[in-house]
Amino acid sequence: MQEFKNESERQYDYMEQMKLWVSKKSKEKGSPLTCHVTTFGCQMNEKDSEKLLGILETMGYQEVDTEEADLLLYNTCTVRENANTKLYGHLGQVKKMKEKNPQMIIGLCGCMMQEPHVIEKIRASYRFVDLIFGTHNIFKLAELLKARVDSGSMIVDIWKDTSHIVEDLPSDRKFSFKCGVNIMYGCNNFCSYCIVPYVRGRERSRKPEDIIKEIKQVVSEGVKEVMLLGQNVNSYGKTLENPMTFAQLLKEVEKIEGLERIRFMTPHPKDLSDELIQVMAESKKVCSHMHLPMQSGSSRLLKEMNRHYTKEQYLALAQKIKDQIPGVSFTTDIIVGFPGETEEDFEDTLDVVRKVGFDSAYTYVYSKRTGTPAASMENQVDKDVIKKRFDRLLALLKETSAKNCKKKVGATEKVLIEEMNSHEEGMVTGRLENNLLVHFKGCREQIGSMVNVKITEEKGFYYMGEQVNG
Ligand code: SAH
Ligand code: SF4
Ligand code: F3S
Repeated sequence: MQEFKNESERQYDYMEQMKLWVSKKSKEKGSPLTCHVTTFGCQMNEKDSEKLLGILETMGYQEVDTEEADLLLYNTCTVRENANTKLYGHLGQVKKMKEKNPQMIIGLCGCMMQEPHVIEKIRASYRFVDLIFGTHNIFKLAELLKARVDSGSMIVDIWKDTSHIVEDLPSDRKFSFKCGVNIMYGCNNFCSYCIVPYVRGRERSRKPEDIIKEIKQVVSEGVKEVMLLGQNVNSYGKTLENPMTFAQLLKEVEKIEGLERIRFMTPHPKDLSDELIQVMAESKKVCSHMHLPMQSGSSRLLKEMNRHYTKEQYLALAQKIKDQIPGVSFTTDIIVGFPGETEEDFEDTLDVVRKVGFDSAYTYVYSKRTGTPAASMENQVDKDVIKKRFDRLLALLKETSAKNCKKKVGATEKVLIEEMNSHEEGMVTGRLENNLLVHFKGCREQIGSMVNVKITEEKGFYYMGEQVNG
């Protein structure tokens, strides 16, 4: 038996073994084996998919941008019912693809696979799936594929939870100039509507030195902007051998030379510290943007949701942040139709939206998730009532965001150029610190660079501008 220093070395060995297999199959086929990863869900999943793709490419697969590939992976989400429906829709199509190309390997992974009822359904009705794994063992992709090609049968490997973090695996970043960086995994909050703690396991933080090493590496490869990822970044570092706060971590990341912008997602209002606000206010690199999910404006519902703050506390916190970080852009997440939501509760939500004046918000219709406490609450809200409230909320948000958008016209701001504008020739699209997009004249060679742009016109939720020197 070969001895390995750590898990990542063991996995690199599997990648080497699979490389031989991929090379043999490519020769038989007469062209390289292709792969595709389709991602559903949040930035955590986007990041996981970059890791999966990194492993596949190390094994010799060539990425293609169609699902008609020799290996197709679905990295799934289950935060709301429609995420599940989407996957089953895709699987219907995939069955036909596999009939045409029986050699095709189909893998399912991610949050949805952590639910036992999903695995049962796939085993029963989607027999053509080759490989199933969850959120805790994505680092094993090469090993699992090896097991699949050796055995010829369906491989299912789901872990309930893990305390392990496997570092130093390959990753293929989607953008050359920005990327997500995990700072912690899992969630301990158990908001009563939410499935995430059940499918992502308990909270565990990465060591600061591993985070810093990864960021230094990507910066040396051209990354200008990082997004620090965690379900509740405010509890970063609590379980480390040498505990450290999120604000302290931010200060360390700030020191990295060549890094220009730092974003993070997601802070929880219940434990957002004064230290964090201060670090943001003083920082040159942390973007002046706070995404602070409120979920509801009703103190009664917030209690039912297990959020540990009241309407008044949320409003006071928002005010404090705005006072100490002038011009901060404020965004949020809101759920409409949580069980028992009355007209009065909903009015409270509208009231907070009006008072905080959000720049934008992600709005969701409450979705019942099996296994969560809210799913068994009896007073589920009528669909038509939810639809009407949802529309009223959107109308109000349109007003608050338009009002905020207007404020920037005439200002000159730093912009990270992300892509060529797909609608107009000779134009590029860049992102402002507040996360909104601006379109202006530019060329392909500028993608990934930071420039100063004067904002000349607002369009409600994006801008037009012109590049200025200096
Ligand atoms: N950890 C983050 C968010 C993770 S999920 C946080 O606490 O803010 C992203 C968003 O999905 C949540 O903020 C919530 O608004 C929404 N969401 C989660 N579960 C939901 C459900 N069952 N129905 C509707 N929206 C939900
Ligand atoms: Fe879900 Fe709440 Fe955890 Fe966010 S903090 S992932 S909403 S349980
Ligand atoms: Fe993200 Fe969906 Fe999982 S929102 S954590 S991919 S359930």
